[in-house]
Amino acid sequence: MSQPARRQLFVTTALPYANGNFHIGHIMEYIQADIWVRFQRMQGHQVHFVCADDAHGAPIMIAAEKAGKTPQQFVADIATGRKPYLDGFHICFDNWHSTDGPENHALAQQVYLDLQQAGLIETRTIEQFYDPQKAMFLPDRFIKGECPKCGAKDQYGDNCENCGAVYAPTELRNPYSALSGAAPVLKTSEHFFFRLSDPRCLEFLSRWTTSGAVQPEVLNKISEWIEPDAEGRPKLGDWDISRDAPYFGIEIPNAPGKYFYVWLDAPIGYLASLKNHFDTGGARTLGENRSFEDFIADTGVEQYHFIGKDIITFHTLFWPAMLYFSGRKVPKAIFVHGFLTVSGEKMSKSRGTGLDPLKYLDLGMNPEWLRYYLAAKLNGRNEDVDFNPEDFQARVNADLVGKFVNIAARAASFIAKRFAGQLGAVSTDGAALLSHLQGALESIAQHYEQRDTARVLREVMLLADRVNEYVDANKPWELAKQEGQEQRLHDVCSTCIEAFRLLTVMLKPVLPRMAQQVEAFLQVQALDFGQARQLLGAGHAILAYQHLLQRVDPQMLETLFEPAPAPVAEVLPGGEAVAPVIGIDDFAKIDLRIAQIVECQAVDGSTKLLRLGLDVGDGRIRQVFSGIASMYKPDDLVGKLTVVVANLAPRKMKFGVSEGMVLAASHADEKTQPGIYILQPWPGAQPGMRIH
Ligand code: 2FM
Ligand code: ZN
Repeated sequence: MSQPARRQLFVTTALPYANGNFHIGHIMEYIQADIWVRFQRMQGHQVHFVCADDAHGAPIMIAAEKAGKTPQQFVADIATGRKPYLDGFHICFDNWHSTDGPENHALAQQVYLDLQQAGLIETRTIEQFYDPQKAMFLPDRFIKGECPKCGAKDQYGDNCENCGAVYAPTELRNPYSALSGAAPVLKTSEHFFFRLSDPRCLEFLSRWTTSGAVQPEVLNKISEWIEPDAEGRPKLGDWDISRDAPYFGIEIPNAPGKYFYVWLDAPIGYLASLKNHFDTGGARTLGENRSFEDFIADTGVEQYHFIGKDIITFHTLFWPAMLYFSGRKVPKAIFVHGFLTVSGEKMSKSRGTGLDPLKYLDLGMNPEWLRYYLAAKLNGRNEDVDFNPEDFQARVNADLVGKFVNIAARAASFIAKRFAGQLGAVSTDGAALLSHLQGALESIAQHYEQRDTARVLREVMLLADRVNEYVDANKPWELAKQEGQEQRLHDVCSTCIEAFRLLTVMLKPVLPRMAQQVEAFLQVQALDFGQARQLLGAGHAILAYQHLLQRVDPQMLETLFEPAPAPVAEVLPGGEAVAPVIGIDDFAKIDLRIAQIVECQAVDGSTKLLRLGLDVGDGRIRQVFSGIASMYKPDDLVGKLTVVVANLAPRKMKFGVSEGMVLAASHADEKTQPGIYILQPWPGAQPGMRIH
């Protein structure tokens, strides 16, 4: 394979807000970037891979106040929790820093002064809601009130969760501060704007975004911001980059009481973390002896940012423009990935849903299973990815263990027992198989470069199939029993070990820990793409095989997705503590209705569920699945009235969509105290009546 020239790369993932632990979405992004970085290093390139905590902004300031800490202490405490996740999933950042570090303060102020010098900063007086009790301006999400369109109560300052209307906070009826409850007053303030609507910015952005810096599907999404609409104006307006004190952030030079909006200093944090990596000697250990300033100014250095689809505009419009017009080098590309869903559902931070990465590790689940599974799903495009437990188990057990690990397991014991651990010569058919594998290295590398790890793993598994076919055709376990087949047995098993080494090279970016074990087992130097074609050869000694990877135990997956037990204060006879207190407004969000069960059937393939057809008084029959089959026969229920949560988001289940939930009572410990009892109203209630 031709060895490309040594590239120099600067790679980041998005900086996580320092107001909570990582969720599985963060881990997916880090794994995607980590695989790419490891691949680049295996190609012989130099990579500086950094991240940092995104420390600033009003939400963090307010969360710190609630926790009774200074914002600095608050974000420092969050930072101490990062390591177990990163180490646990083998994520190899070279540096982890904070946007509140001194490097970022200095860099953000300098970038701003450079933009000002370029004539792209302007001040304007704007009117904004102010909380007189807290003595601070309120960010949109801390203003609530009644929706101007539908009148729903307690809606946020920017959009209504009830009717979906979008509006300005000033349009809310009876607005109040979510911080103090006080009625906000309108107050004027001077703000600083980055003039993105300047023709120079539009010209630059239209050039940069079409230079191959963004994926085609991303370009589609952002071009409306840059291209003129019917009236000849693009959607991109000037960007408000300042906030008034009190604010946890970086002070704007020569503007007392004014701070940079968190989204201005956050991406500059990429550079700040890189600078910190240089200043603390990390870059030198990677063979880079220049200063941070020389390195970052070098147009040969390629800068890449991995991000999620929710922060595209910040990274493909604001950030490159900030860099360019402050006289700095722009990113070579922004790599956007989609969201992670779990069993088709959007993640939620509330208990019982999602996949807790620390719980995964605590259960002793292998981090490389998750790396492999996510890599098998990610294809380098901006598409959502679903974690499905059954699929996870199947891919790890059937593909990774069944197809790949098995090759070594099948061949190594013969090499150890019969040939004193030494490989033998490979004959023509084995050589043909190995050359087929060697020939695939180049295209595997190309797919890695494109971040199409789904394609990489599909092709590697096809190659593993070929190797297993070769094993099945030659049956070493039978050769071992036959007279005079010693040499053929040696030949076949040696071919398998050589093939296993080649497949390990291809999987190494995804499975770094396992590749290390294989390197020890095969007694070879660190595997990379450059020397991959070189076979071990006859006479090479390997160690005894030790099992490389367990299969996924379905019990582990079940435990992983079990809802966390509620913190128990006082356990009632029902086996469960009473949930935390809610206000009447919270209760009012749940729309409980009388429903008549007009149809009821058993569900094929489920012993738990019944399929109910409910009349909720809206002229149609809605389908609801309920786990009550152990207690009721369909005929017992048809015609009866019950209570249903009528505004629950429809849920896609294995057997169809469930459009609500029937209320039923049960003991918290279903195992020792089974039984589930559905609610029935007193006579007189009619389908469709609301329960208050
Ligand atoms: O959306 C987020 O989680 C932000 N904290 C990402 C910031 S990325 C970069 F700009 F710092
Ligand atoms: Zn509304």
